[in-house]
Amino acid sequence: MSAWRFSRYFLGSAPSITEARRFVTALLRGSPIVGEAELIVSELATNAIRHSASGRFGGRFLVTVQAHPDRFWLGVLDEGGPSSPKVFRPSMGAEGGRGLLLVSTLALDWGVWGDDRGRTVWAVLRSQPQTASCS
Ligand SMILES: Nc1ncnc2c1ncn2[C@@H]1O[C@H](COP(=O)(O)OP(=O)(O)O)[C@@H](O)[C@H]1O
Ligand SMILES: [Mg+2]
Repeated sequence: MSAWRFSRYFLGSAPSITEARRFVTALLRGSPIVGEAELIVSELATNAIRHSASGRFGGRFLVTVQAHPDRFWLGVLDEGGPSSPKVFRPSMGAEGGRGLLLVSTLALDWGVWGDDRGRTVWAVLRSQPQTASCS
């Protein structure tokens, strides 16, 4: 697969979650990991709106999908703020959701760049599901 990259801004309000998911669906249509990518972008877009300055009136966030020969990189750039992403572990009880825990489970790798002026939460997915190898 050739390398490509697309980015799109979305308004920081609830309808954009579906729009961001559709953006990813359209880009990854036919890929075996489209379902995982849709889930991840939904979680990250929801977080950008709920937990960062992107959710303020006039706020926005940027979704990027980048294809590499064997993997996809998905990133959501928000407008920052005082809170930073943290994974709730099951041992931490019922407080908080499980969005980033789900992202960390689905992704080959994930992370956060940036600071209170803007953060990118990113995840990498294999473009093909891993197959068992016998050697
Ligand atoms: N983009 C973000 N900007 C700032 N804080 C974030 C962001 N994403 C997640 N967080 C923080 O990490 C926590 C865990 O996120 P998540 O696992 O998605 O659970 P939930 O969104 O249901 O609280 C959030 O409660 C929030 O405090
Ligand atoms: Mg969340």
